Amino acid sequence: MSSMEIMNALTAGSYDVERLRADFPILQREVNGRPLVYFDNAASAQKPRSVIEAVQQCYAHEYSNIHRGVHFLSGQLTARYEAVRERVARFLNAPSAKEIVFTRGTTESINLVAHSFVRPRLKAGDEILITGMEQHSNIVPWQLLCDETGATLRVVPVQDSGEIDLEDVRRLLNERTRFVSVVHVSNALGTINPVRQIIAEAHARGVPVLLDGAQAVPHLRVDVQELGADFYAFSGHKLYGPSGIGVLYGKMEYLQQMRPYQGGGDMIRSVSFERTEYAEPPQRFEAGTPNIAGVIGLGAAIDYVESVGLERIAAHEHDLLLYATAGMMEVPGLRIIGTARDKAGVISFVMEQAHPHDIGTILDQDGIAIRAGQHCAQPLMQRFGVPATARVSFALYNTRDEVDVLLQSLHKVVRLFG
Ligand code: ALA
Repeated sequence: MSSMEIMNALTAGSYDVERLRADFPILQREVNGRPLVYFDNAASAQKPRSVIEAVQQCYAHEYSNIHRGVHFLSGQLTARYEAVRERVARFLNAPSAKEIVFTRGTTESINLVAHSFVRPRLKAGDEILITGMEQHSNIVPWQLLCDETGATLRVVPVQDSGEIDLEDVRRLLNERTRFVSVVHVSNALGTINPVRQIIAEAHARGVPVLLDGAQAVPHLRVDVQELGADFYAFSGHKLYGPSGIGVLYGKMEYLQQMRPYQGGGDMIRSVSFERTEYAEPPQRFEAGTPNIAGVIGLGAAIDYVESVGLERIAAHEHDLLLYATAGMMEVPGLRIIGTARDKAGVISFVMEQAHPHDIGTILDQDGIAIRAGQHCAQPLMQRFGVPATARVSFALYNTRDEVDVLLQSLHKVVRLFG
């Protein structure tokens, strides 16, 4: 975003961060005797009262199983559950709610596509293309398939800036490529990948593409039709919703070709010991009693971010990113890993004076929660020659004052370990 776009978004209705903070009960608490500064949003975001109350209301007053009962409660909750499917479709601008599958999260969404869509199409010598900045959830499922089939995993290299070069994508795509799976926004570096161009390159060779959107949907407006994505995966818990619930968007022409991922109740049309007929998508991929309250909470989370406005959230977080980056560059011995031109509100860094775990521990004493570790992306750490990084990640409720607290604490690390 340019400075002008940020100003426009922020001034299109005031962004009252203090009012938004009041929606998140946990932000009122202290940690180690200090006001909580929660900068671990890329690992999981905090929940607004509306999400907590929606889940509580579901269990306290509305609960029943869905899709199975003729009684009032079951009918009512089934309608609410299916209304969230419609809500998710609108959120992603998917053509139809039938293209929205509820899963446990991004990891399960990717595994579902790997097993039900890619596995039957894969043979020895074929290739799957990912990038060097994928999380384990977008590496290991493909390695498992490659082990089973003799296919090869190809990896688009990551530049020193934390970006990928489209030339490398073009070079690595070839007649053996059967599938491309790419992270939309890197959880470890913050890089916003040029996914529309990657999809266009893949489609020019007839190759379908999955986007891992776990880190994108809380921060950017996602339009699966405009991107041209064949599959799009995300999790509820990074979007201010419950954990254990996620989404797979898939184009209907592909979902219809896919075998079930798991067998069980609710995914069948008829069962006999001789022959079972499967339900149409999306039910075909939702075996067993689902995370009903999780879906209700996810619906409330989407309503919440839409009520704030994704464009305004993006602008607010971009302001924090610029402000924090400038301050952190003044901290002696601190190096930021991932300096992409197009970046979401994530800052990974290392310090000469201290290991990331020590940084995390000192900051924790000041009530600041960051993540220190490998961010579920060990190959990326190897690429940058670091055992781990410390990572600050922003959400809609963070403030410049909190960034000031962070900067003071980072200077304390320098004094203690320098
Ligand atoms: N993948 C999550 C993270 O980035 C858990 O921390």
